[in-house]
Amino acid sequence: MTKPTQLYEGKAKIVYTTDDSDLLLTYFKDDATAFNAQKRGTITGKGQINCAISRHLFQMLEAQGIPTHYVDCPSDREMRVKAVTIVPIEVIVRNLAAGSLCKQTGLALGTQIDPPLVEYCYKNDSLGDPLLTRDRLLLLNLATPEELDYIRQMSLDIDRHLSAFFQECGIILVDFKLEFGRDRQNNIILADEISPDTCRLWKQGETDPQARILDKDRFRQDLGDVESAYKQVLERVLGQAK
Ligand code: C5P
Repeated sequence: MTKPTQLYEGKAKIVYTTDDSDLLLTYFKDDATAFNAQKRGTITGKGQINCAISRHLFQMLEAQGIPTHYVDCPSDREMRVKAVTIVPIEVIVRNLAAGSLCKQTGLALGTQIDPPLVEYCYKNDSLGDPLLTRDRLLLLNLATPEELDYIRQMSLDIDRHLSAFFQECGIILVDFKLEFGRDRQNNIILADEISPDTCRLWKQGETDPQARILDKDRFRQDLGDVESAYKQVLERVLGQAK
């Protein structure tokens, strides 16, 4: 067995090589960042929780016919994934207005968005992950027009499956971020993670605007009880995935 080499360390995960050149190993850290890493902290146990939530959501999406990079989890913080080249676009899907959409448009928090809104940000820390138009994505050669159509449709399909799943868990899927990659055959597949770090999740039936938050907004807004919120999401996801 060759020693795994660290390929990349991101804000929440470390990626290693494996013996199989078609597979990589992702290690989920407890580190948390917000506002383009201007705010940093640790959420105890987050690595295990996000690894487990992502695993169940990837398995659920695979069962619905969505191709993902998920292979298996050799430990509770590690996920073996198919090696992909990440498309440097962060795809955001919104069902209710929150976060940067409210800030940039003046829409009231919680406004229903139907049909869901699909947005694209440039995955580029030094530029601050700016919102891009489809024409700018094409100008920057980040994907072909066909790939963009496919990514948009897959994102809407994923939204449908995830919203229905979370609804069964008693959770409202407000919005979320997806990343896609190109595998060795140049097929676009879902990559990265799906977790309370990358989704806004509100407890159904809870009207208090702070008490309902079960995601990274608790860390961003210093609301406290971050670990217990993430744990609640995991318990509900595990309960529903049985
Ligand atoms: O900040 P904004 O409202 O644009 O975020 C939309 C959604 O995308 C939120 O669920 C947020 O957690 C997620 N997101 C992310 N990583 C980023 C930017 C946003 O997971 N770099």
